[in-house]
Amino acid sequence: MNASAPSADSLRAALAGLLDGLPPKQAAQAVDRLIANYRGTTPTDTPVLRDRSDVAAYAAYRMPATFEAVRGALGALREAAPDWEPRTHTDVGGGTGAAGWAVAEAWEEQPPRTTVLDWAEPALALGRELAAGALDMEWRTARIGGALRLADTDLVTVSYVLKELTEADRAALVTEAARVAQTVVIVEPGTPDGYERIIAARTLLIEAGFTVAAPCPHSGACPIEPGTDWCHFSARVSRSSLHRKVKGGSLPYEDEKYSYVAATRFPPAPATSRITRRPQIRKGLVLLDLCGPDGLTRDTVTKRHGPLYKQARDAEWGDSWPPEDEG
Ligand SMILES: C[S@@+](CC[C@H](N)C(=O)[O-])C[C@H]1O[C@@H](n2cnc3c(N)ncnc32)[C@H](O)[C@@H]1O
Repeated sequence: MNASAPSADSLRAALAGLLDGLPPKQAAQAVDRLIANYRGTTPTDTPVLRDRSDVAAYAAYRMPATFEAVRGALGALREAAPDWEPRTHTDVGGGTGAAGWAVAEAWEEQPPRTTVLDWAEPALALGRELAAGALDMEWRTARIGGALRLADTDLVTVSYVLKELTEADRAALVTEAARVAQTVVIVEPGTPDGYERIIAARTLLIEAGFTVAAPCPHSGACPIEPGTDWCHFSARVSRSSLHRKVKGGSLPYEDEKYSYVAATRFPPAPATSRITRRPQIRKGLVLLDLCGPDGLTRDTVTKRHGPLYKQARDAEWGDSWPPEDEG
């Protein structure tokens, strides 16, 4: 039982027991198999996560990172919709439940009731075990596809799932999410193709009447010329010794790159601009790459800008800018 409030630490504590009894070599082999599967031809007709060792490996290897990515997206959503609180949440393709943990942390005073849908039963079983005593979650077997019908819910999350679907199933899922939810949050790997899937989903959400709350400052066309760059962000993931054992390497952290879109059916208050790269701090000045009302720009903030200079030095990739925007 994990009685503490949901957080990166309590998730790590819940994960710590996971590979107990599984020799490190076997754990490493399960991770290797998983990576090979994920590098292979997805979408597949059957779940990649087939049994408990696949799922344990997935959870130990990926869950802390997907949790941090969803947490980053939810943080930006909360800035754009500070008064909105979901009562119900559906996590589609939720696997072992990383997004449910992030949602419970984001609205920790009164976490919504989360329903996790996935076709991989071993993932749902392990997710249920990890969450036992910590989170109020329901776990249901469901296959994503044209026939999927979701129940009305305040928030839908779809985290690291679109890549595993055909283009038709992606579109059907996003359209169905927009039909039933007030807010939809979609997260993908921060790669050029992950970004393309996010942009396609963003277009569908806007067509369905949604407004982009984050990361974009508006719901107009993305100013990135296709093929030249991709909008993505970075979340620092601290690695437990278990995580190090499974993934190898000795660094105490890694940076998870992710792309996302959060859109709402109600009018949000998006950032004026968003910092789209790690700020470059030089002697007496900070260079900020921004996406804002004038598209992509680079701002130079110097000591002459007074308090803004200090704020620019503290600013991080993915933050809204200027900081007064923050809820
Ligand atoms: C990379 S995992 C992401 C899991 C979780 N959302 C996270 O962020 O950690 C992709 C998940 O999508 C699920 N999935 C893929 N295709 C699916 C389908 N057609 N129907 C239901 N679930 C599917 C997989 O079983 C897996 O749990």
